[in-house]
Amino acid sequence: MIINILTLFPNIFSNFLKESIVGIAVEKKAIKTNIVNIRDFAFDKHKQVDDYSFGGGAGMIMKPEPLYEAISFVKKEKNVPVIYFTPQGRLLNQEIVNKYSRENEIVLVCGHYKEIDQRIRDTLITDEISIGDYVLSGGEIPAMVLIDAIARLQKGVLSNLDSALTDSHQNGLLGYPCYTRPAEFKGMKVPEVLLSGNHKKIEEWRREKSIELTKKVRPDLYKKKFEK
Ligand code: ADE
Repeated sequence: MIINILTLFPNIFSNFLKESIVGIAVEKKAIKTNIVNIRDFAFDKHKQVDDYSFGGGAGMIMKPEPLYEAISFVKKEKNVPVIYFTPQGRLLNQEIVNKYSRENEIVLVCGHYKEIDQRIRDTLITDEISIGDYVLSGGEIPAMVLIDAIARLQKGVLSNLDSALTDSHQNGLLGYPCYTRPAEFKGMKVPEVLLSGNHKKIEEWRREKSIELTKKVRPDLYKKKFEK
């Protein structure tokens, strides 16, 4: 899968793409990243990428021309999704991650300053994604969030893909409590059922715990799952 990243701060991605699961995905060529500096497409001698907002008000706006040129440069096929990260976007969830993880190629647009020019959003952006109801200084961290979530689902990246399929959110529920050795730690024992070897019982216990936790911590998810 090819992931084109359009950013004003390409260096932010250098270590991120080398480490952990994302690093493995890159090494195994499950994802190939193409980092493009939007500033390289600025046309004036000062390489200006932002300007004042028409109508006034605080905050600079990213100019349309460099973004238009940068997106056109990487987007060769018509139906490649172009995702822009903004707090105004729809909230990222596992369903959206799963969908994009099946694409051959995507373009990620990281904004900065107050906003990008609306005409780019109206014409070239195909999806707008937020990673939560708070404001970050740019789209690079949201882009990393999406890349990480996509990378770990690519074939051959995780040694046990089953593990990814039992993660929180993959079935609309939060995950179950997990324990490893020792079976007793500072007087706290691992639930008996997990030591029983009875896989059916273990599965039932885990599902019960998942449901219990989801109902308590994320009643919105619980409702979506059980009260359709
Ligand atoms: N850019 C700034 N804040 C953001 C957020 N919460 N989600 C996505 N992109 C952003």
